[in-house]
Amino acid sequence: MIRLKNQTQLDGIRRSCRLLADVFSLLEPMVVPGVSTKELDEAAENAIREGGGEPAFLGYMEYPASICASINEVVIHGIPDATKLVEGDIISIDIGIKLDGYFSDRALTLPVGRIDDQKQKLMDITLECLELGISKAVAGNRVKDISKAVFEHACSAGYGIVRDFCGHGTGIELHEEPQIPNYIGRGPNPRLKPGMVIAIEPMINQGTFEVEILDDDWTVVTTDRKPSAHFEHTLAILEDRTEILTRSRT
Ligand code: MF3
Ligand code: CO
Repeated sequence: MIRLKNQTQLDGIRRSCRLLADVFSLLEPMVVPGVSTKELDEAAENAIREGGGEPAFLGYMEYPASICASINEVVIHGIPDATKLVEGDIISIDIGIKLDGYFSDRALTLPVGRIDDQKQKLMDITLECLELGISKAVAGNRVKDISKAVFEHACSAGYGIVRDFCGHGTGIELHEEPQIPNYIGRGPNPRLKPGMVIAIEPMINQGTFEVEILDDDWTVVTTDRKPSAHFEHTLAILEDRTEILTRSRT
């Protein structure tokens, strides 16, 4: 069932998303060589709690941290630890918040100091995939219009598009229907309606689209160990426009 949100719910989700955007604004300047992913996790958890929220990922299916911190070949679900960021890395940070019962979800990939042109291009294309997907996320279109826009852009740049994980509805629960794949496959193709809140999240690899899960049962890596990037926003589909709820204000 796809849940359409009423005004009260949209306002609650908006507040959750605004707190999440603020948490990212705090975290972004911390991404420098020498900082550990655990330090980023602690800073995020503190900021979320100071804002009155809870980390939505902590304890979700027994996930052990507040953020996912995924370096280079780690696609998603990297568990924060003592690993320190190194100049030339790229790191994807994914965070979810529950505030007054309402969920928000966002991810972005950042450079650590100076990075090579290939990594920069991968990040640029992945962000463009998200932006193109968002441009199709309007009332009256269908889910596959988003999928197609993301897929075709990444494909024409020669990148691998992760298929094993998708975007999703969100807001009242962390993960709701519909699924928003980043490729065009079989499966349902619902129409986008006013009141829908969705998270679009392209995960794009420099090499193969294939991924595997490490022995910790969480960390998703590319099978060829080439780098991967991930950008995600939570959006509200409204009658006459689409609002990017997790966009930073600064
Ligand atoms: N961030 C993922 C998503 O966007 C969910 C993370 S699951 C967790 O859907 F277990 F790591 F929390
Ligand atoms: Co998500």
